[in-house]
Amino acid sequence: MERQWWHGAIAYQIYPKSFMDSGGDGIGDLRGIIGKLDYLRDLGVNLLWLSPAYPSPLADEGYDISDYYGVDPRFGTLADMDELIAESGKRGMKVILDLVVNHCSDEHEWFQDVLRNPDSPYRDYFYIVDKRPDGKLPTNWRSHFGGSVWEPLGDTDKLYLHVFHKKQPDLNWQNPTMREEVRKNIEWWLDRGIAGFRIDAIANIGKAFPFRDYPVDGPDGLSGLDNMFDSSDGPGAYLTELRDKAFKPRGALTVGEVFVTDPEHIDEWIGPDGYFNSIFDFSGTLFGNNTGWHDKKKITAEDYKDCVFGMQEAAGENCFFSNIIENHDESRGVNYYLPDGEITDAGKKMLAGLYFMLRGIPFIYQGQELGMENAVIGSMDDVKDCASIGAYKISRDAGLSDEEAMAGVRRFSRDNARTPMQWDDTPNAGFTTGEPWLPVNPNYKKINAAAQIADEDSMLSFYKRLISLRKNAEYADTLVYGKTEPYLREQKNLFAYKRTGDKTLLIAGNFQNKPQDMRLPSAPKRVLINNYDEAAITGDTMRLSPYQFVVIEA
Ligand code: NOJ
Repeated sequence: MERQWWHGAIAYQIYPKSFMDSGGDGIGDLRGIIGKLDYLRDLGVNLLWLSPAYPSPLADEGYDISDYYGVDPRFGTLADMDELIAESGKRGMKVILDLVVNHCSDEHEWFQDVLRNPDSPYRDYFYIVDKRPDGKLPTNWRSHFGGSVWEPLGDTDKLYLHVFHKKQPDLNWQNPTMREEVRKNIEWWLDRGIAGFRIDAIANIGKAFPFRDYPVDGPDGLSGLDNMFDSSDGPGAYLTELRDKAFKPRGALTVGEVFVTDPEHIDEWIGPDGYFNSIFDFSGTLFGNNTGWHDKKKITAEDYKDCVFGMQEAAGENCFFSNIIENHDESRGVNYYLPDGEITDAGKKMLAGLYFMLRGIPFIYQGQELGMENAVIGSMDDVKDCASIGAYKISRDAGLSDEEAMAGVRRFSRDNARTPMQWDDTPNAGFTTGEPWLPVNPNYKKINAAAQIADEDSMLSFYKRLISLRKNAEYADTLVYGKTEPYLREQKNLFAYKRTGDKTLLIAGNFQNKPQDMRLPSAPKRVLINNYDEAAITGDTMRLSPYQFVVIEA
């Protein structure tokens, strides 16, 4: 395959609102990020993804954009963004931004014009329809955040479609003029020096026409959106156009937020002629999804192995996934993947090492490199995340008690990963001198960057070792382009695989709280990474300690 600069990228996701506040208003900002670029360079990452910092009412924390050409004053100015891009570049880090074009904000000028003016030229930028003759809503679709997808258009008797929050009206991709607006915006940002985009919720642009009801699948009398999307032609035609007209001519990197787990369709998205360069592997995240957060199954080591190996196999040698254990929409990976009560430093390091050595681009979400953990959520009064409010209601509608519904929220709320970055042990973890918009996790005295920078055994130091191995000239080629071959797949709670290229590397994690023996494929040449001091190798067997993780050159 033709080699590309991003194949060897090591990415870091910044959630601007919670990264670093330079102004004391309790909200992170671009100048705060600029002040921490040396920290990111020292970590070793070379690609930064910034979640949205565009002007926004922040109903969905910036994923509701009211101006595609600006920066929200709470986050800074366009000049700050230019400086951030330039200063990152000086430190060897490229920047990608979020492209959020399934929907905009209801406060965007296009939608505002539609509200004011019945003859607005922007009417066809949205899906605006009449009620049915019997007064019923046009369809019975449930939005991703719960409740109907239909909302009255101001005080008219028309309705507009929103598959997410009601302040996020969906853009009409059938409209070529609207698509041209998106293309212009993409080019404008690329010309400002960014390397590409993480592309938000993009599969949602391919709706099924004509709009109609689908089978009811919940006590709310509504039908989940998958039913509709499954009957659509998909977004392929629009994405091909974007790729050929906007992304390719400028060599942009594109990483799609797409939830594909069917191996047969991976190629369509990220094969040699795919719509994007990469998409996230969400198979672990999606595992156990049922009717709501209250009945989502906890993932086990064996389930996780099946997810990861299934997708690595599907990607083969032509497709590059973006690998994650968490992001701003998920709970912290250490809480999600490690068994309750076993969230130790050894386990956290094992989890880090296991996904980091897979084929694909490893993405670190801010604070993950410190081993940050889920927020402490008391009641719904503490919750800011709009998705959690919808999910809580879905659980209550399904007949659960407050306590039962809260258990789901505590486990899966997006607030879990959105608490402020823990920089040091001073008040508010050094994130702000003001009142943080979301409370800091009380464990910041123990878990913070300042303490970990000084400690060779810290999570942060461990992540630095993982990153330098990926960049090490001797092993980089194997780690970037080598095959992933599951090893002793059937051995319970042993998560092991080989990466084979010009070298052979064995990556192994003992995914349990007790020792376990692993037969080695050959006499080891050297142990490259170990989250313990010792590697207990006798003959062709290695005794792994609880949650031990090793990378061995075989
Ligand atoms: C995915 C984003 O990551 C999430 O935060 C947002 O709520 C939805 N898309 C809607 O934009």
